[in-house]
Amino acid sequence: MQKAKDSRQFYSKITTHVLQEMKLKGEKIAMLTAYDFSMARILDDSGIDVVLVGDSASNVMAGHKTTLPITLDEMIYHASSVQRAVTRALIVVDLPFGTYQGNSIEALHSAIRIMKESGANAIKIEGGEEVIGSVKRILSAGIPVMGHLGLTPQAIHKFGTYVVRATEKDEADKLVRDAHLLEEAGCFGIVLEKIPANLAELVTNEVKIPCIGIGAGNKVDGQVLVLHDMLGITTKFSPRFLRRYHNLSEEIKGSVTAYIDDVKSVNFPNEREQY
Ligand code: KIV
Repeated sequence: MQKAKDSRQFYSKITTHVLQEMKLKGEKIAMLTAYDFSMARILDDSGIDVVLVGDSASNVMAGHKTTLPITLDEMIYHASSVQRAVTRALIVVDLPFGTYQGNSIEALHSAIRIMKESGANAIKIEGGEEVIGSVKRILSAGIPVMGHLGLTPQAIHKFGTYVVRATEKDEADKLVRDAHLLEEAGCFGIVLEKIPANLAELVTNEVKIPCIGIGAGNKVDGQVLVLHDMLGITTKFSPRFLRRYHNLSEEIKGSVTAYIDDVKSVNFPNEREQY
């Protein structure tokens, strides 16, 4: 197979159309989460295609056990911080739990607030058939929507566990149907979280829009990870799908310990570090 071209050389701004083009060309899409200005700038400078302001901020930024407590105002705060840093990547923002499930008008208001107040490029919603009315209403206002199927963390209390989803035929069939519904409604992409690799491959081949996997194997159109997990800032969360590219927690501890030692031994600041 011919090696796909690398988007970093070709696109000065990633749009939903570029992602579609990447799928057609067979170029994989690289997506990571970010929640603040400084990290988002590093990601964008590194050439990431999509920055997801995920509601995983609830876990890794705020220390909650689930993604449920984070509010729309908090998501807007994170998203606007990210937006001020990013010039190239597409910025997608999660609609938090409780801001779109009630009815489609409420969903539209939530999505409009995110777009207006943060300057992001798109929103993401968890679920299929049960939220399709909200998806359509948001799309009708010209707001790009990304779907999210499989292990949808906002439904953790329904699932009861974070184990792999859609291993049984009924759930797998529903997931395929939901993917088609999201595509037909006009979503520009779908996140597939923690499902069997062969199911993710099937969905990716059946729909024309990009499918981004997390714990869904490599036969999808791209990958997403939570930044704090892949950098090793979080240490307790170790699912099989997670590749840690760094052990930042230990590195930071090393630097902080050295700083504390220097302060206590009056080794910092030295003569060149004072006025
Ligand atoms: O909130 C998040 O970080 C996400 C990713 C895990 C896909 O939705």
